[in-house]
Amino acid sequence: MPANANVLTATKPSQMEEARQVVRVVRGRPASDGAGVKLTRVIGQGDLDMLDPFLLLDEFRSDSASDYIGGFPSHPHRGFETVTYMLAGRMRHNDNHGNSGLLTPGSVQWMTAGRGILHSEMPEQENGLMWGFQLWVNLPAKDKMTAPRYQDIAPERIPEVALEEAKVRVIAGHFANVKGPVHEVATQAVYLDLHLRPGANLDVPLPFGHNAFVYVYEGQARIGDRASRELVRGDLGLLGQGSGVRITGTDAPSRLILVAGRPLNEPVAKYGPFVMNTPQQIAEAIEDFRNDRF
Ligand code: FE2
Repeated sequence: MPANANVLTATKPSQMEEARQVVRVVRGRPASDGAGVKLTRVIGQGDLDMLDPFLLLDEFRSDSASDYIGGFPSHPHRGFETVTYMLAGRMRHNDNHGNSGLLTPGSVQWMTAGRGILHSEMPEQENGLMWGFQLWVNLPAKDKMTAPRYQDIAPERIPEVALEEAKVRVIAGHFANVKGPVHEVATQAVYLDLHLRPGANLDVPLPFGHNAFVYVYEGQARIGDRASRELVRGDLGLLGQGSGVRITGTDAPSRLILVAGRPLNEPVAKYGPFVMNTPQQIAEAIEDFRNDRF
């Protein structure tokens, strides 16, 4: 473990009453977005259209500049939140309200688009590995037109819980009584990045009623207790209900994200980067965007 101030030791959470099991495994599909950025779309494609409140999950990972150099030039968002978690590489963010930020490896940007922003997300490197995730989290009807807000979290602000068998970066929600720095998320989202040592055996409590998934981005891991499923790199495991999830490492290290959120159970009207509740609100979003009202 690095001797960072944000590394905390903690007691392993105790055993769960009722473990969540993997109810479905989904593989992402190759996609291209922005100005030709190659990525893998895991949520927001035919096999998994959405997982309330999550609208989209992309993994971008390439060490070939031609796959990412075009970036995501100016584009709008309204009605939801975008969460960018960088594993490698640097991405520059600029918006039409004068906000700017640099996403570096290990950092997170939790952007609440609310009533609307226009922004660009561009690589700040001409070669080397660019690797990370973008997750879209829906907003409840009452918050869709809220003022835009950013939570730019530098890597050293993300607490790392150091256990004997794993390191857990707590981005949002709680783990082992350690609270993540992202706050006031309407869907009470949990976002953990787990680095498991070989043979790790970890129970992670999750709020009851939240929809949840794991996505393995390195190695492989077994998820669930009875009838556990082995997931390999690129597998998303949709979790059933329960009080938490049991994660078991294999004989090699593995890394995965574990994400959960309170389902909104509200109607969803989607049109590209606008996610509202009704077709009428989508028409208004398009109208506002065309008339420069973002
Ligand atoms: Fe964006």
